[in-house]
Amino acid sequence: MTTPFVIAIDGASSTGKSTLAKGLAKALGFVHVDSGAMYRGLTLYAQQNGWLINQQLDKASLIAHLDDIQLSFKKGALYVNGNDVSAEIRSMKVSDVVSQVAAVSEIRAFLVAQQRIMGANQAVVMDGRDIGTVVFPKANLKLFLTADANIRAQRRYDELIAQNGSTTFEDVLTNITQRDHLDSTRADSPLIQAEDAIALDATQFTVDGMLKYVLTLVRDRIMGI
Ligand code: DC
Repeated sequence: MTTPFVIAIDGASSTGKSTLAKGLAKALGFVHVDSGAMYRGLTLYAQQNGWLINQQLDKASLIAHLDDIQLSFKKGALYVNGNDVSAEIRSMKVSDVVSQVAAVSEIRAFLVAQQRIMGANQAVVMDGRDIGTVVFPKANLKLFLTADANIRAQRRYDELIAQNGSTTFEDVLTNITQRDHLDSTRADSPLIQAEDAIALDATQFTVDGMLKYVLTLVRDRIMGI
């Protein structure tokens, strides 16, 4: 193998991308990068600095301060300027506005540059919305996960309740469908399936079944290099 192996996993929210990516990274000894966490980290930073007033992003302020924001992953946790924000970035407060932050081209360029560096020198499994289309158009394996919105909302709702969050199923479903719409209709890097991506319907698999199936795909690609 000449360049490090890259597995790109894209799809809408709560389709099980991160679970699959974590399982693959563990089984293969690759690094997992949850690119959505990076967009969430910038969203939280904007909230903490008062650049999200009445759910409206003050784009200019966030763009002007991008170079003050250091993002890093340690043992699966996201750190923003040295603080572990892994729990806070999952709150509905962040989920409700993250698509606005992710629609800003300057912000995308800032994060895409960091994501490309992460995949330049080490084998990675990266999940997000534009990994196979924009970040790594030459990824060794591209997957596109789909699942019915109601099933995704139930999954997310169960996770939030297990983490002691207070929300309703309806709020989670509304958030997921609004984000799907914003993420797939934005002008810059919308959520679309790359032509050479393999589509997988997550509702047709168990978590383990999908992991096993994708591991066979990875092994075929590695043999083909
Ligand atoms: O995967 P997630 O739900 O944690 O992602 C949070 C938001 O970030 C999602 O609404 C879309 C955006 N996102 C993106 O635009 N591009 C990525 N590569 C990853 C996430």
